[in-house]
Amino acid sequence: MVSAPGRVNLIGEHIDYHGLAVLPMALRRRIRVAFRPRADNRIRAVSAGYGMREFDWTPELSPAPAGDWENYLRAAAQAVSREWGAGVGVDAAVISDLPAAAGLASSSALMVAFTLALLGANRRRATFEELMEALPEGEQFVGTRGGGMDHAASLASREGCASLIEFDPIGLRAIRVPEDWGFLVAHCLKMAEKSGAAREAYNARRAAGAAALARLGAASFRALLGGGGSVGGCWQADAPAPQGCPLVASLVGQTLSSVNLTSDERNAFEHVTSEARRVSAAVSAMERGDAALFGRLLLESHASLRDVLQVSCPELDRLVDAAMQSGALGARLTGAGFGGCAVVFAAKRDMPAVRQGLAARFYSKTPVVDPDTQMIDAEPGPGALHMEMP
Ligand code: GLA
Repeated sequence: MVSAPGRVNLIGEHIDYHGLAVLPMALRRRIRVAFRPRADNRIRAVSAGYGMREFDWTPELSPAPAGDWENYLRAAAQAVSREWGAGVGVDAAVISDLPAAAGLASSSALMVAFTLALLGANRRRATFEELMEALPEGEQFVGTRGGGMDHAASLASREGCASLIEFDPIGLRAIRVPEDWGFLVAHCLKMAEKSGAAREAYNARRAAGAAALARLGAASFRALLGGGGSVGGCWQADAPAPQGCPLVASLVGQTLSSVNLTSDERNAFEHVTSEARRVSAAVSAMERGDAALFGRLLLESHASLRDVLQVSCPELDRLVDAAMQSGALGARLTGAGFGGCAVVFAAKRDMPAVRQGLAARFYSKTPVVDPDTQMIDAEPGPGALHMEMP
């Protein structure tokens, strides 16, 4: 048996794919895969509610029809064969208590768990760094050009901690979540289908950011922001004028307006650079236990995702407003957006009131019968590599 958790991203949205640092934490909800090695190369997996899938594990697999969960099994098999070579197949059963299409990275958790199952069946050991070479690349097989945040958080998070994930080279620093801080994940009731229409919108944001960078003649956002990208970079927390980053300062000031960017490119640039600064500020706020500042940064992040990058939706915006009216210190959409969940941050002692407030202000105006099914207490749990297996 192997298992991999979902994640909630606390801050750092739509920037991992530009190589900038992000701050998610692993949830206690996870995908479990019970497996038995086979003697041949057949992969068979069954999942309650999703049916059975089977195929031969050959070195070059082609995708199943778009939207089919078999694609995540194929993506895992493909990732393993690229990095370690194909091997014997498995008979597997997949169970999950992680809601799908909610922005909680259930698809990445499935891919992580199934990859670990295939490696386990073939008695292969892999390091975090090796897995991070294979997994994000492998998921592109499914058609979404995501970043590496979800896989890194699902693999290597630590109990009780958020994960500051940096890229190029991949690294994860555990940041202890203060004992009296609470997080809630609440669904806005609009599904965020990663493999559906939202996929193109997501890929378009990524392309706009990359195009802005190319037009500005910069090698990467990290180079632009001064090395560390966010944490350790020159554009640090609480520093309104990025003095150490003359390029960014002048770009944000005047130069940007003279560069011929489309409005989508300009928006992507503005969101990405400001979000990188917020991640840096949020990490120091968490380390100092400054809950008021942390909450404010979540709200600023949501405003940028809503107004600048434009990946929110009216349902998510109403949910965030309802959370703030209910005593939260901050709230924002989490994950790719276009539906799915918001993360709500409050003092732990205020969480019951925030929950009740959301039930009254948001869910009572919807057809939801039991609001408790739409809200998950987000306790920071361990990643797949740090789990005690039964
Ligand atoms: C999805 C992707 C992540 C990340 C977020 C947006 O969840 O899988 O890699 O890009 O969107 O922050």
